[in-house]
Amino acid sequence: MRVLGIESSCDETAAAVVEATDAASPWQLRSSVVASQVAIHREWGGVVPELAARQHLRDIVGVVDQALADASSTWDDIDALAVTQGPGLVGSLLVGVSFAKAVAAARNLPIVPVHHLAGHIESLALHNGDLPYPAIVLVVSGGHTSLFHLPSPGVYQLVGRTRDDAAGEAYDKVAKLVGLGYPGGPIVDRRARQGNANAIAFPIPKLTHEDRNAGPHTHLPVGFELALKRRTDFSFSGLKTAVRRHVELATDGGRRALTDGEIDDICASFQRVVIHTLLERTFRAAEWFDARAIGIAGGVAANSALRSEAERRGAASGLPVFVPSIALATDNAAMIAAAGLRRWQLGDRGHALDFNADASLAL
Ligand code: KG4
Ligand code: ZN
Repeated sequence: MRVLGIESSCDETAAAVVEATDAASPWQLRSSVVASQVAIHREWGGVVPELAARQHLRDIVGVVDQALADASSTWDDIDALAVTQGPGLVGSLLVGVSFAKAVAAARNLPIVPVHHLAGHIESLALHNGDLPYPAIVLVVSGGHTSLFHLPSPGVYQLVGRTRDDAAGEAYDKVAKLVGLGYPGGPIVDRRARQGNANAIAFPIPKLTHEDRNAGPHTHLPVGFELALKRRTDFSFSGLKTAVRRHVELATDGGRRALTDGEIDDICASFQRVVIHTLLERTFRAAEWFDARAIGIAGGVAANSALRSEAERRGAASGLPVFVPSIALATDNAAMIAAAGLRRWQLGDRGHALDFNADASLAL
């Protein structure tokens, strides 16, 4: 069974071929092509939706052709399509969804619409083979910081999420505040390695009040409501504000520039708090849910310090920690094909062509 995955929810146009032989064997990654638009959006300091949609239109055909060629496949070898239906930028999503529907109609192929976060979650199984279940999975990216309980394969129960900024968004904003480039995550990661993580005592985010914004529904198992209340959510906007205040003071209100050493220390100290917060909540949740494994996926899972600290904590607590490869952590289509394969294995045989891109699709 060969699935072609298509992903275009934000600023990467991606296509990939993933193959499943039998239920016992792990999925096989045959190809994964990602056309990044970073160079286009860098000039603006963030993703410009209209430019993103237009670039997806230019890139999609070539990216899909390349993914087929890299997989030594033609359309005749493809058994099904999987495409990101949402969430994301609607103009971007529409390019992938329309392209996939057109192919499905022309080639008479089944098509499985996929939630972007299901893709991030299944990047773990694609890279590591199936996780032990139940598992707790943290999806930490530019748009999301969400904690999922997976009682069994392909069942994703949201048990916590950020109430404001996503962790990746905080990285990008902090990078901007200290005058580093875009996207900020990888640059802050690099600079933090040279800095002193204890130089600045940024506050550890604490959630002391009820969530006043409704936000997406979180699923709390019966009996856990009180124990989990307030304890599995995240918040990063206060930390971002603390960094801004620190920079204002340190630069005398912008009258002098930060030194390289000061920037390194800010990056390292900020990152220490982010990683501590992410892992503290995730490991607590794993305890509460009696999880047999922890997974960490999404763009921020590419962070070197997060990966090593998660591994250290996992070893100390005897809980295996799974991460995707760096290439499968940031947006790609192999994870979308994997999420499509998961649905297929659970009996989903594709969808009629009347589904649409959904910018705020719920999982
Ligand atoms: O999953 P992703 O590619 O796209 C979304 O679905 O959002 O995640 C992108 C986010 C960006 O905010 C980027 O700064 C962050 O992941 N990121 C990192 C690293 N690499 C990417 N954050 C921290 N350290 C990294 N090494
Ligand atoms: Zn993503």
